[in-house]
Amino acid sequence: MNENIIIINCGSQFTQLIARRLREMKVHSVILNWDSSCETVKAYSPKGIIISGGPDSVNDPDAITIDPEILNLGCPVLGICYGMQLLAKLSGGIVSSGNAKEYGVTKIRRTGKSELLNNSIHESINVLMSHGDNVSGLPEGFIITSSTEGEITSSIENSERKFYGLQFHPEVVHTEQGNEIIKSFVFGICKCSGDWDLEDWVEGTIASIRRDVGDGRVVCGLSGGVDSSVSAALVNRAIGGKLQCVFVDHGLMRLHEPEAVMNSYKDMGLNVIYVDASDRFLRELAGVTDPEKKRKIIGKLFIEVFEEEARKIKNAEWLLQGTIYPDVIESGLKKGAAVIKSHHNVGGLPEHMNLKLLEPLRDLFKDEVRVIGKIIGVPEAIVNRQPFPGPGLAVRCLGEITRERLDVLREADAIFRDELKRAGLYEGIWQAFCVLLPVRSVGVMGDSRTYNEAVVLRAIHSQDAMTAEWSRIDYDVLDRISKRICNEVRGINRVVMDVTSKPPATIEWE
Ligand code: XMP
Repeated sequence: MNENIIIINCGSQFTQLIARRLREMKVHSVILNWDSSCETVKAYSPKGIIISGGPDSVNDPDAITIDPEILNLGCPVLGICYGMQLLAKLSGGIVSSGNAKEYGVTKIRRTGKSELLNNSIHESINVLMSHGDNVSGLPEGFIITSSTEGEITSSIENSERKFYGLQFHPEVVHTEQGNEIIKSFVFGICKCSGDWDLEDWVEGTIASIRRDVGDGRVVCGLSGGVDSSVSAALVNRAIGGKLQCVFVDHGLMRLHEPEAVMNSYKDMGLNVIYVDASDRFLRELAGVTDPEKKRKIIGKLFIEVFEEEARKIKNAEWLLQGTIYPDVIESGLKKGAAVIKSHHNVGGLPEHMNLKLLEPLRDLFKDEVRVIGKIIGVPEAIVNRQPFPGPGLAVRCLGEITRERLDVLREADAIFRDELKRAGLYEGIWQAFCVLLPVRSVGVMGDSRTYNEAVVLRAIHSQDAMTAEWSRIDYDVLDRISKRICNEVRGINRVVMDVTSKPPATIEWE
C-alpha cells in the first residue's frame, strides 16, 4: 500500500490544491469527506492527516465536524484554517467568532519554538489569511507558535501529540514558504519518503477503472482536446475494446484538423466512430449572428448528435468525461454568477441518458493531465494542443456563418499559426488564432479596387485563461503574416491585431 496522507475535506475551495502540493512532493494523498468515520480513515494506515479549511464557523450549531476518534489514531494532524479551529475546539480550546476577521495577505511572526515552523520558515513571512474566527483560548498542551502583527494567533501546536494548526493557507502561492511548511509536516513530522509519482497515479487509476467498470461498456465523446483524449487513452489502457469513442465533426474545426485528430486517435489504438455532422450544424446556424444563440445551438445539437450515436452502442453503461479539477471548481462556484459566455465542451453531456459517469481526471490540474498524457503515450500534437473552444470557429467567425466564410477563416488562421511556428513563437503562446470580421473595407490589389472583409490576429499569454495579456509579436513576423494572408487568402484585404488583454476583453471574440 502507498504511504498515505489523508486530507479531510471540510469544504474549502483549496482542498485540491493541498492534494496537488502533496503530489508535487511525490507524496500520495487521499481526500475524504468530513463525515468519514475513524474506521474509514484508519483503513488507509495514514502517515498523517490534514484537515482542510471550510466555509463554516465551528461555533455554528450545525457546523460540520469530524469524527473525534480520528484524533486518537496516534498520527500527526495538521489543521488548516477551519481545520485548525476544529482541532482546537475538539481538543478543548476556545474559538471566538467574528472579532478578528482577516482576508488577504498578512504578515506573521514566529513566537515560540515550533517543530513545524522552526526549520521551515523565516522569522517573519507573508501568508494568505481567509477567516472570520480565531483561536482565543488554547487547548491544554498547546503553545502559540506564531501570530499576526495584530496579535491574532496564526499557528499553534502540541508537539507531544503531534497536532499542528495553521490559521493561514500554506497551500496557496500567496503564502511565502507555504511549501516549506507542508514539507516540514509530511517529511519532517510524518516521515513520508516521497517516492510516489504520477506514473504510480496512472497505474492506480488504471486498476481502479478496471475494478469499477468490470465488464461494462464505456462511451466517450472525443473533441480532439487534451482532457477528453487523455481520459480516453487511460480508459483504453484499462479496458481496451470495451471503450467506444465518438468524434462529432461539427464542421467548425480548423484546417485539416478532423483528419489529423482522427489519425492521432487511430495511432493511439482508440475505437472511434467519426460522425460528419457539419451539414446539420451549418443548416441550424444559417443566418444566426448572435454569439449566445450560436453557442446554444451548437451545444444543443452536439448533445443530440452524440446521443443518437451513443444509443447505437449496445450495452453502454458508462459515460466517460474529460472533466478536470478547474471544471469542478468552476461549476461549483458558478451558481448565481453572471453568464459571460455559455461554455460548451464535451464535458457537458446528457444527464438523462442513464449512464454512470466515469471521470478519471477530475482531481487533476491541466498541467498534470499533460504529464499523464505524455506518460501514456498520447501524441505531442494533442498533449500540447492550445485550448480550442467547444463551439470551434463559430465563435471566431463573427456575423453569419457560411461554408465560404469558414474556409476563408481557416486559411488565414493556418497561415498565422504556421508563421508563428516557423518563427519559433507558437509553443510559447497560450492561444493564437484568427477572427474573421463581418466588416468590409476598401483596398487595392494590382490596379483594382477591392472591398473585402478583415481578419484579426489574436495571440495571448495566460496562466489559466481567467486573465490574459496580449502577446507582443515581432513586427517582421507580423509583416510576413499580413502579407501572406492578403496574398494567399481570397476575400481578405486587411489584417489587424487585437491588442486587448483580458479583462476587459475576453480571449475569444464571442
Ligand atoms: P474567454 O473567451 O471566455 O475564454 O476568455 C477563456 C478560455 O476558454 C476557451 N473557451 C471555451 N472552451 N468551450 C470550451 O471548452 C467553450 O465554449 C469555450 N469558450 C471559450 C477559450 O478558448 C479560452 O481558452
